[in-house]
Amino acid sequence: MLSPICWNEGRVRIIDQTRLPTEERWVDLERVEDVAEAIRTLAVRGAPAIGIAAAMGCALAAAKHEGDEPEALAEAVRRAAKELAGTRPTAVNLFWALNRIRERLDRSLAASISAAAIRDALLAEAQAIREEDIAACRAIGSLGAALLPDKCTVITHCNAGSLATGGHGTALGVIRSAIERGKQVRVLADETRPLLQGARLTTWELMRDGIDVTLICDAMAGHAMRLGMAQACIVGADRIAANGDTANKIGTYSLAVLARRHGLPFYVAAPFSTVDLSLADGHAIPIEQRAAEEVASPRGTAFAPEGVEVFNPAFDVTPAVLISAIVTDRGVVRSPGLREGLLGLSRAE
Ligand code: MRU
Repeated sequence: MLSPICWNEGRVRIIDQTRLPTEERWVDLERVEDVAEAIRTLAVRGAPAIGIAAAMGCALAAAKHEGDEPEALAEAVRRAAKELAGTRPTAVNLFWALNRIRERLDRSLAASISAAAIRDALLAEAQAIREEDIAACRAIGSLGAALLPDKCTVITHCNAGSLATGGHGTALGVIRSAIERGKQVRVLADETRPLLQGARLTTWELMRDGIDVTLICDAMAGHAMRLGMAQACIVGADRIAANGDTANKIGTYSLAVLARRHGLPFYVAAPFSTVDLSLADGHAIPIEQRAAEEVASPRGTAFAPEGVEVFNPAFDVTPAVLISAIVTDRGVVRSPGLREGLLGLSRAE
C-alpha cells in the first residue's frame, strides 16, 4: 500500500506530489518550516495527509529542540503548531491533528515527565494519527464498498486516494475495497482544474494498482452522465458541517448538481475527523483562496492575458441536500437525516 508520508529517522518523509506523475521523488523534511512549506505548496495534500504532516511537524519541532527544560520544549512545539495552523484554512483535519498534539503535550506537562519523554510522546501521537487514519480508510472502504453495484463506473473528483491519506484513501479507498471484494468498478477521473489533482494523481495511483481509469476534463462529466457512462459519484471531503454540508475541491458542487440532474447517487467518503460539529452548516466553512497564477499561468505557461482578474477558491461547499450518503469510519449516514446521523456517530466513539 502506498503511503505518502512517514517518520524517517528524525525527519518527515513525503512523496513530493507537485512532481507527480512525471517524477516519483521522496523528500526528507528537516525543519518545521519545510513541513509548513510542503503543506502550502501541496507537496503534501489531501485533508487527512495534511493533518498527519502537521502532527509530524510538531514531533519534528520537539525532536529538533535542544535543551532539557520541558516548558521551553513545550513553547517550541506551540510555536510550530501555530505556524502549521496558518498554512491552509479549509481542511479541518489539520486543526484536529494539531489539537491532539497540544492535548498530548498538556497531558505530558501535567505528568511532569522529562523533555525526552515528551519528545517520545509527541512522536507516538503523530504516529498514532497516521496509523488510525489508515485504519479509518480501511473501515470507510469496507462500509462504502457495499454501496457500489457490481459492474459500475464511478466518477470521482480531485484526489481522495492513498496520496491524500495515511494510505488506501477515502473515496478511492471505497473503490479499492469494492474491487478487493470482487466487484468490477471502473473510474472516470475529473482532471480537477486548476491544479489537476485528478489528472496527475488519481490516474497515477489507480493505474499503479491496475484499476481501470479514464481521464476526463471537468467539463465533460455532465456529457458522460448523459451518455450513461457512470452509475455513481464518490468524492472526499475537507470539512463536513453538522448538517452534512461538505467542503471539498472546487468543482465538487458542480458535479453534485449534475449527479442530481441525472439521478446518480452522490457519495462523500471521509474519516470522522473531517466532521466539524462546531459549524451548524457549510456557510461558516473557511474557503482557501489561492494565487491567480494557478489559474492564469499554471506551471509558468500563460493561459490568459497578463494582469487578468482571477477568482481562485480552492474549495466549494456541496449542500447536504445533494448528498446521498456520507461514508465515515464510524458508519454510513444517509440522506435525508444527515444531521441526526452525524450527531449519532459523534456519540459512537
Ligand atoms: O487542495 P487539495 O489537493 O489538498 O484538496 C484535496 C481535496 O479536496 C480532497 O478531495 C480532500 O482533501 C479529501 S482527501 C481524502
